[in-house]
Amino acid sequence: MFIDTHCHLDFPEFDLDREDVIGRCREKGIDYIINIGSSLENSRRSVNLAKEYDFIYASVGCHPHDADSCDEGVVTELEKLSLADKVIAIGEIGLDYYRNLSSPDNQLKVFTRLVNLAKKRQLPVILHSRQAHEDTLKVLKENMPLRAVVHCFSGGQDFLKKCLDLGFFISFTCNITYKKAQDLREMVKLAPLNNLFLETDAPYLSPEGFRGKRNEPWQVRFLAEEISKIKGISVEVVAQATSNNAMNFFGLKVNR
Ligand code: NI
Repeated sequence: MFIDTHCHLDFPEFDLDREDVIGRCREKGIDYIINIGSSLENSRRSVNLAKEYDFIYASVGCHPHDADSCDEGVVTELEKLSLADKVIAIGEIGLDYYRNLSSPDNQLKVFTRLVNLAKKRQLPVILHSRQAHEDTLKVLKENMPLRAVVHCFSGGQDFLKKCLDLGFFISFTCNITYKKAQDLREMVKLAPLNNLFLETDAPYLSPEGFRGKRNEPWQVRFLAEEISKIKGISVEVVAQATSNNAMNFFGLKVNR
């Protein structure tokens, strides 16, 4: 059993063959997919995908890249959307000071606002934090208790420890398979299995050997294989533990 806890099947990269891709995920043993909302429009599409496919769940949110256009009106719409069936988290939200596509001030404002929404709706948070770990933790600490997962973990040992101390979950992507990702593989070693989810972030971050090609959620098995090698345990144990973690965290219903 595999769960891809983070992908973007609503993105234009899948416009020509979305149904085929989703069918392939089914055939290749993906039990659940969480499709992530990255803007108001993408959150709407995410909710629609969850309506259409029983094994797809949705999150709604606004990526830090889009913070400049996330005003109070957008937040109100996101809140309404968060009431839809099968919306199981607020995200992805957070801070990205690496690309700074929106101003850091707006990123902080929108992130704080959406953390408040998650608290109000009693939903967990899916975090995007890139070169902004200190500010990310500051906002989260001011709003504890919170349930959160750090998506596409890119920090070091210090950030990892702080996140684990707050009871957060960690998810790695297939970028841990890249030749130069030795530091990330060290983090995989240090992160307890009981705190891990699997994710592809498809269409991005295809595993080594498929780089430059579109990623698809079923390729999450390559991630599970890499984690099993790093931790010296079987792929089945990785799949089972990460699936249990995600089922409990997001409250996914066994309906199949
Ligand atoms: Ni993403």
